[in-house]
Parts: sequence; structure tokens; C-alpha cells
Amino acid sequence: MTRLPANEARVAVLSGDGVGPEVTHEAVRALRAAATRAGLGLTLEHGLLGGAAIEETGVPLPDDTLALCEASDALLVGAVGGPRWDGLPADRNPGPGGLLRLRRDLDLFANLRPASTLVPEASPLRVPTVDILLVREAVGGLYFSPERGRRRDGSTEIGWDTMSYTAEQVRRIAVVAFELAAAREGRLASVDKANVLESSRLWRDVVDEVASDFPQVTLDHLYVDNCAMQLVLRPQDFDVIVTENLFGDVLSDELAGLVGSLGLLPSGSLRSDRFGLYEPVHGSAPDIAGTGAVNPAAAILSAAMMLRHSLGHDSAAADIERAVASVLRRGTRTPDLAGAGPAVSTSSFGDAVVAEIERHPAAEAS
Ligand code: IPM
Ligand code: MG
Repeated sequence: MTRLPANEARVAVLSGDGVGPEVTHEAVRALRAAATRAGLGLTLEHGLLGGAAIEETGVPLPDDTLALCEASDALLVGAVGGPRWDGLPADRNPGPGGLLRLRRDLDLFANLRPASTLVPEASPLRVPTVDILLVREAVGGLYFSPERGRRRDGSTEIGWDTMSYTAEQVRRIAVVAFELAAAREGRLASVDKANVLESSRLWRDVVDEVASDFPQVTLDHLYVDNCAMQLVLRPQDFDVIVTENLFGDVLSDELAGLVGSLGLLPSGSLRSDRFGLYEPVHGSAPDIAGTGAVNPAAAILSAAMMLRHSLGHDSAAADIERAVASVLRRGTRTPDLAGAGPAVSTSSFGDAVVAEIERHPAAEAS
């Protein structure tokens, strides 16, 4: 789809819980700085999501928030959840009842999770760089079981979920992944568990069908257990990975481990038009909330993804990415990456990124 740059954009900011508001604050500052230089006017409106919404309204995804999202061009989300709400049933819980419902109700099926080496010494790997794009199906599969439940059965209790996909659900995520692979290095790994699961056998057949439309892309099928191992052994061989919702959830945290910190991984969840939700891969980290210790890079890089994928401003996105990379290259470290060395606060990191965006010669409005 052509991504014409917008001159005006309406962005809903749902900062959520725990460290969410802190990282979102820095992401908004970077977004504003980059947008101003690109001639993009932004209207930012704040909405409640997750535990913050439960406290104010009793529900994790209030109708007002959903209406705000539907009227926006893109969403910037912080993180949801925390011990206070952990015990709540799924429909009233910040995760399933808030964030997951938002993904599903807005049909944000294509969850893009890029992982690239920004701080080489933070990675436990010996390879020089990792540059992998995980494409996670985000509105189907095991997370959204049509059949799920929990009941007593005689002397025991049963809980069950089902993994199911329609061919159409697999096809549309496969097309997104092939298109992205064609625009990168042309290598796609489709990850499933087709030696055991029926839904994976369907997944594999459909991905093979879609492959015939993309002769320029080399396709490999991997079982998810093997993929988890290969990512550690030879991460440099991966380009784009496409997989089911739960497999993608697990593998994306593995990617975070490979690049050295969850604080470095952004994400975007896209619909078939340009609308999307952008959020760091990390969670609400309640243990460090309010201490200024969280790394805002993942949230800031998520704002860059928004500029690229939803607002059509590639060069403003690149301005943010360049600024984050250069701040990290200079050795600016939040505690997650500082080791025994000196660490800066969340807001100092954000200051450095904004200064770097503003220092760079103005980009053409893209
Ligand atoms: C993620 C998170 C969410 C998920 C949680 C918060 C529901 O782990 O975005 O990876 O499982 O999708
Ligand atoms: Mg996760």
C-alpha cells in the first residue's frame, strides 16, 4: 500500500500502568521533535487503558478509549498490568481485557517486532550484530481460543484453550511477512509445530501457497522448538520470522535476550490499512515504576515505527532511530544496560535523544 505522508495526524496516547507513563512521556517528546522537523502537525489525546482505566472507570478498556482509538490515525501505548490487578478474571484484567481486546477489536493482526543490535556489549552472543524482524500474528491462535474454559471434573479441575486458525487469517499474516522480507534481505522463516498440531499443518500449507507469489523470497519452515535453539546458535542467519500468536510472544522475548535488553525492543501492530498501535515489547515492570530507572528506548523506537508505518514519514522515523543509536553509541546507559558503570535516568536518556534529533540537519518532509 502507498504510504502518503500525512500533514496532520491524530494520535491517541494510552500510557497505561507501571513504567508505561514514564516511557510514553519520553516517546511523545521524541515524536513531537521529529514531527515538527518533518512538518507534521500532531494532535495528541490521552486515554485510559489497563489498570489505570480500572481504577477510574472499573473496566480495563472503557468505551471512551475505544472511541478515541477509532477516531485516531495511530495509537501509542505504554504498558499494562501489575500485581494489583493480576487476580482479576480475563475480561476485567488489564492484559486480556485491555491490551489484547484492543488488538483484537481493532483487528491489529500484524504485530511487527524488530530486534537489532544497538548495544553490542549488552548481547550475550558472540556474533557481531543481530537484525531480525519477527512478524507475530496477533489476533488469533491460542490467545483467542474460540473454545476455552475451566471446570471441575470429578475430583480434578480442567482448564483448556484451543489453537485455531482459518486459512484467511494465516494468508493475510503470511502476505505481510513475505512483503516485508522482499523489502529486506529476502529470507523468511515460518515457524510452527507442524509435527504435532493441526493448526500448524494448515499454517504451513497456506504459507507455501503464498510463497508462490513471492519467488524473490527464500522460505524455510522451522518447528518452534528448533527455532528457539537456532536463534541462539545462528541468529545472524535470520531475516524475517513469521509465526503464531503465542509462539511469537515467546520468541520475541528471546529476541530481547539476544539483543541484550527488553528495553530496546519496539513493536507495532498493524491493521490492513495504515492504522496501527505502537508499544514497547516490555511490560509494566511495576518493581521499577516511578524510579526513573526504566529504559525508554523501546517506547521511543515504537514512536519511530508509528511515523514509518502509520503516518508515512520515513525520514522522521529514521531521525528518531539515528538519534537513539547515536545516544547509545556515545555510552548513555539506563540501568538495564549500565552493568557496573554509570547510569542515566529515563528522562535524561529522553533529553539526549531529543537533543540529538534537533541537532541533526533538518530532514525533508518525507
Ligand atoms: C506482549 C505481552 C502481552 C502479550 C501481554 C501483556 C498480554 O507479553 O505484548 O508480548 O502476551 O501479548
Ligand atoms: Mg510478551
